[in-house]
Amino acid sequence: MKISIFGLGYVGTVISGCLAREGHDVTGVDISRVKVDIINSGKSPIIESEIGEIIKEAVSQGRLRATKDTKEAIDNSEVSFIAVGTPNKKNGKLDLAYIRKVSIKIGEALKNKKGLHTIVVRSTLLPGTTAKLIVPLLEKFSRKRCGKGFKICYNPEFMREGSSVYDFYNPPKTVIGAQDEESASLLRKIYKNLPGVTFVTPIEIAEMVKYVDNNFHAVKITFANEIGALCKRFGIDSHEVMNIFCKDTKLNISPAYLKPGFAFGGSCLPKDIRAISYEAKTSGIKAPLLGSLIKSNQAQIKRLVSRIKETGKKKIGILGFSFKAGTDDLRESPIIDVVEELLRKGYKIKLYDRSVNIARLVGANKIYIEKHIPHIARIMCASLSEALCDSEVIVIGNNHSEFKDILKKVTRGQIVIDLVRIDKNAKTGGNYDGIAW
Ligand SMILES: NC(=O)c1ccc[n+]([C@@H]2O[C@H](COP(=O)([O-])OP(=O)(O)OC[C@H]3O[C@@H](n4cnc5c(N)ncnc54)[C@H](O)[C@@H]3O)[C@@H](O)[C@H]2O)c1
Repeated sequence: MKISIFGLGYVGTVISGCLAREGHDVTGVDISRVKVDIINSGKSPIIESEIGEIIKEAVSQGRLRATKDTKEAIDNSEVSFIAVGTPNKKNGKLDLAYIRKVSIKIGEALKNKKGLHTIVVRSTLLPGTTAKLIVPLLEKFSRKRCGKGFKICYNPEFMREGSSVYDFYNPPKTVIGAQDEESASLLRKIYKNLPGVTFVTPIEIAEMVKYVDNNFHAVKITFANEIGALCKRFGIDSHEVMNIFCKDTKLNISPAYLKPGFAFGGSCLPKDIRAISYEAKTSGIKAPLLGSLIKSNQAQIKRLVSRIKETGKKKIGILGFSFKAGTDDLRESPIIDVVEELLRKGYKIKLYDRSVNIARLVGANKIYIEKHIPHIARIMCASLSEALCDSEVIVIGNNHSEFKDILKKVTRGQIVIDLVRIDKNAKTGGNYDGIAW
């Protein structure tokens, strides 16, 4: 395939070299004369294991050349990759100056080009940038319509500097954001020899995936370092602790707890987070990530309160209010915080949870609920239908099997706020939504 690659930095150089090695005919484009000359002399403008040899061989065999001329590159290719830089501005905002310029240049070059051209964006971009910035610029300057005169895909890059050639051939996954299967199939063809799972998804999802990955990786590193600092303080070997931690593939290194929903609660998580944060604070160890967890959790609770207030309705039915399905432990259940706040503001609340029998609560659990909602028995319902009757807003608080077909039971006017996404296939928007999905 004839491919042009815009931006010969870390990403562009590696994909230029590797795609040329795969047998494609590659033209690299950069605004830097120095980088173009380095590639054309058979050398790599970046230091990375193996890339020097790959570029040397590809240039000598005539499968890779570089130019500053956008039109020449577009005329000589059927697909173009965009890998220009997307740095931050001083305030952290994404700087899209290079993206803007390259889109205009490619658009102008496409104006008189015959045949369908595909543009594959690889630069890291916030969701919506491809559709709201790149496509309009390409359309304006090419005078062609996206989908007809040219096609667009967003294909995030997951390589890491230091092992980028290895990562090119061993990607953790391939994600293709595409408008249709035809554009996606072109990329599938280009990557046909690469291992790993391929996801074809809407462009905005593909854009977001890259940020989620990088933010999560940063959370992992920061978490490990804060735990390490604490372990050192306790005089224990953090690596031994983390070795055991990582061996737990049920709850720790696993998809557990990674679906956006509602706040955490219960008798353990909040208590144990506070104990560790207190220990860090009093021993002079800075652990801002661990110290932020309770605050972030409270923000999630506030999001639900705000969402309920936004509806403008006053009669609220809450289904499932222990901190998770199948338990009657009400201690630090985040829904209880919401109920307290709403009762203070004069809302009419109905609570229903099959697992909770107030008369049977004992010990710390009983004391907790009596302190927070003293007259809870008065607002509890004996059945699901009683809780649904007359409630203008229904909050699904946990995923008890009894709530599975709840959407069939609510009436048209009732607003459902679902904290657990009880029905994965239900159409969201309008009267049915979550607060974090
Ligand atoms: N570096 C990484 O490890 C890595 C990994 C994954 C994703 N990314 C993302 O990929 C993108 C590129 O990153 P990078 O590290 O390769 O950047 P880089 O700064 O090393 O290279 C960008 C190149 O684009 C060139 N350029 C700018 N405007 C141009 C234009 N109009 N036409 C042609 N070339 C132009 C620059 O001269 C430069 O050589 C960024 O969005 C980055 O976030 C980077």
